[in-house]
Amino acid sequence: MDSQENQQSINQPQPHPTHSFNFKLKSSVFYVSSILILVLAVSFSFTTTNFLKTQHLKYTFSLHPTLFQTLLEFIHPSKKTIQTQEPEPISLPLNCVLWMAPFLSGGGYSSEGWSYILALYEQNRTRSFRMAIEQHGDLESFEFWEGLPKYMKDLAIELYHTKCNMKETIVICHSEPGAWNPPLFETLPCPPTAYENFKSVIGRTMFETDRVSLEHVKRCNKMDYVWVPTEFHVSTFIESGVDPSKVVKIVQPIDVKFFDPVEYEPLNLASIGKLVMGKTTRNSRFVFMSIFKWEYRKGWDVLLKSYLEEYTAADRVTLYLLTNPYHSDKDFSNKIVEFVQKAGIEKPATGWASVYVIDTHVAQSDLPRIYKAADAFVLPSRGEGWGRPIVEAMAMSLPVIATNWSGPTEYLTEENSYPLIVDGMSEVMEGPFKGHLWAEPSVTKLRVLMRHVMDNVDEAKAKGRRAREDMITKFAPEIVADIVIKHVQNIFKKMD
Ligand SMILES: *[C@@H]1O[C@H](CO)[C@@H](O)[C@H](O)[C@H]1NC(C)=O
Ligand SMILES: *[C@@H]1O[C@H](CO)[C@@H](O)[C@H](O)[C@H]1NC(C)=O
Repeated sequence: MDSQENQQSINQPQPHPTHSFNFKLKSSVFYVSSILILVLAVSFSFTTTNFLKTQHLKYTFSLHPTLFQTLLEFIHPSKKTIQTQEPEPISLPLNCVLWMAPFLSGGGYSSEGWSYILALYEQNRTRSFRMAIEQHGDLESFEFWEGLPKYMKDLAIELYHTKCNMKETIVICHSEPGAWNPPLFETLPCPPTAYENFKSVIGRTMFETDRVSLEHVKRCNKMDYVWVPTEFHVSTFIESGVDPSKVVKIVQPIDVKFFDPVEYEPLNLASIGKLVMGKTTRNSRFVFMSIFKWEYRKGWDVLLKSYLEEYTAADRVTLYLLTNPYHSDKDFSNKIVEFVQKAGIEKPATGWASVYVIDTHVAQSDLPRIYKAADAFVLPSRGEGWGRPIVEAMAMSLPVIATNWSGPTEYLTEENSYPLIVDGMSEVMEGPFKGHLWAEPSVTKLRVLMRHVMDNVDEAKAKGRRAREDMITKFAPEIVADIVIKHVQNIFKKMD
């Protein structure tokens, strides 16, 4: 099949250049067709959620217009100034939870934020408090917004229009602490005004190294509570100086209905991937999938070294890397070839085992089909906050091989996966966490595990099934929503 043609089928349709509007957003452009769709969605949600509040959070902090605000101003230029005189519906509680996260960035905090608001919304008990959202903490990607399923967009628009009274509101700042008020970079601050104006302010964050830096500890201690996803974080935060009475473990939900293998047909991976090493594989015997941002932390070097040393073309195996740039250009093929040369990995006599890179934007709604096309998921990272692709793969019943350190120790077990033993710890050499430690996963052990998974398909499948069961019983949205609701209601009770 023509790969060009297939790439386009999962890409966004190319807009007509003369039909574009430029908003003041970095790298975001809106197009007529999508605006029309949104006009419909927005006008529906206005009729149900447009009620008056004395102190609107929204509309008072418009110094940095967010994607939603810009979008809505364009569609309903007058809405912002009109004070509707509709009376407050009596049935709606005053208590409010304002969830502020980078909902529109498409990154790790973004998908985590989505999983919480979807989970909370679906638990109808959220009616004991209102819920509102605001974009905060990272850039907006219109490509990501466009790729979201309609029910998610509708929910976002509805929650965006919910108005809250500051005094009745618990704010959840779901982002890296540098974005918390006062922010260290340009973003809508969280909380949007002074901390004491709100009923309570909670920071939700996590790190991928063995400690929390001093500046971040200070920011955590300004919060009433700090929610972290794992035991690993509870201990690293407290050891670093965060007030133990503020640290609460709240695990991350995974949408086990969306990530359900019985619902999907596999995507034709070869049609969207670029061949980097080896030959085009027809009838591959086994497909390994890895999904990560292109950064050293993700251990792509460990993965390539293990894979290319363990396998040859004769194994008829394929490795797919679904990746996107992280402070780097998109020329992943060259980076891989260069790495292989520098690392001195010798070309096997029968030729390289195949490696493909998928670097096109894959819409969220296509993601399960990517997992569905793989036989195993592998990610030897040096450190993870939670490891979303790992739990997504587990929910999709894939056997996973992942580093048994940091966040993933919360859910990896011998029964549900292949936890990868680490060789030891190594020092972070660059970036904001320079000098911290993280794990050095074992190349030798990874080779053994990859070979083992491929040679013991029945065992691997059984672990995959167990993985999905564990995701359902421990992290299904309704289970995690119950945990969140319990904490939120306790705070409301304590403060009343
Ligand atoms: C929750 O509320 C929605 C909207 O009112 C309703 O359609 C849905 O059936 C409710 N779900 C449950 C489980 O009660
Ligand atoms: C993974 O790490 C956890 C926490 O350090 C440890 O308790 C567990 O035994 C490890 N599992 C394996 C398979 O090494």
